Amino acid sequence: MKNINVGMIGFGYMGKMHTMCYDNIKYYYNTDVNINMYAVSNTSKANFPIKFEKVYSDYQGLINDENVDVIDICVPNFLHKEVLIEAIKANKHIYCEKPLAVDIESAHEVMEAYKKYNFNKTSRITFEYRFVPAIMRAKQMIDEGKIGKIIHFNFKYYGSEFIDPNRPISWQSTKEKSGGGVLYALGTHAIDLIHYLIGDIDEVYADKRTHFKKRPLSGTDKIIDVGIEDILNIQLYSGEIMGTLLLSQVAAGSGIDLTFEIYGETGAIKFAHENPNVIYYFNNDDEKSPIGGLSGFKAIETTQKYGGAASFPPPRVNIAWTRYHIASIYDFIDAVCKDRKAYPDIEDGYKVQLVTDAIYRSAEEKKSIMVR
Ligand SMILES: NC(=O)c1ccc[n+]([C@@H]2O[C@H](COP(=O)([O-])OP(=O)(O)OC[C@H]3O[C@@H](n4cnc5c(N)ncnc54)[C@H](O)[C@@H]3O)[C@@H](O)[C@H]2O)c1
Repeated sequence: MKNINVGMIGFGYMGKMHTMCYDNIKYYYNTDVNINMYAVSNTSKANFPIKFEKVYSDYQGLINDENVDVIDICVPNFLHKEVLIEAIKANKHIYCEKPLAVDIESAHEVMEAYKKYNFNKTSRITFEYRFVPAIMRAKQMIDEGKIGKIIHFNFKYYGSEFIDPNRPISWQSTKEKSGGGVLYALGTHAIDLIHYLIGDIDEVYADKRTHFKKRPLSGTDKIIDVGIEDILNIQLYSGEIMGTLLLSQVAAGSGIDLTFEIYGETGAIKFAHENPNVIYYFNNDDEKSPIGGLSGFKAIETTQKYGGAASFPPPRVNIAWTRYHIASIYDFIDAVCKDRKAYPDIEDGYKVQLVTDAIYRSAEEKKSIMVR
């Protein structure tokens, strides 16, 4: 049995989520690893639902505690850079929420530390949609050549988190603290999926809008300017493949409205998060007849089919968002135990950051920008 001591930095929404995942791995997977929620550091008042052995008032103390094996970073975006650099220096395994950093300069600093200190531990930037079985199956089908050479694609990720004009300003809507709006909150997930399923994005053309330009400042009667975008329409290129990415956080009625369509020379794949239990597949070679034959999009059931050590609940059971995080954390812990890399890692997070930087520059300069 291997013991792994986890140190949580930040215990808000995602800190709670990650803790729940680590603590439940033993129910979901056949594994002999013992994950111990050892330490936590959180600046706001929080009721921890489990007992941590150590509570640190400063994250530096937690990182440098020699008993901590894994540093889990769930602080607001503007703190990712400094915490990541400390964790890299300490050469600890790192599980960090997206995005890598708030801007390209900060991302460069993280990568400089990564190289300077010869980081050789396991890392993960949390793009959990890579762990949706339907999307894993899409990747497998593309790699198997089931849709042939990819021609074009479209991705959309809409939410309604900012549709309420009275939602007060928070770190998520302050440019310096969040780095950006819908592009960072939702878009980074879609960009990572495009890299995963299609290939590296090398050119972008983007247009952005802030629909609600002023919002109340929490705890005051002040109304102040909003520094982040609500909507982004992006054209993307990956070599000869062209595509679009539409993003909104003011799309009334949208929950996790993540959809994509990928068209190849011999078939197509479609996914809609409204039903994450299936991936739709069209094969040009399916039998056709004047009244339809067997030609048409087929819903391939993927539900909770993870295979391998996943043992509970059974694969036929429907899937939901928390399960992607459990699968992502299990894969990371398995990589730590086997001393292997876990993807998406810090370098994948950096690749996403290069694209977000190009998108903002394109929207500002109103021209196409190469990603570099
Ligand atoms: N992958 C996803 O699906 C997903 C979803 C939501 C948020 N996120 C990401 O998760 C991260 C955290 O977001 P959240 O929604 O949990 O935010 P949050 O505001 O709910 O929680 C942040 C926590 O960090 C703590 N904190 C702030 N400064 C700290 C410091 N110096 N040391 C220790 N703790 C500190 C705060 O007290 C707070 O509890 C962000 O980077 C965000 O982009 C990812």
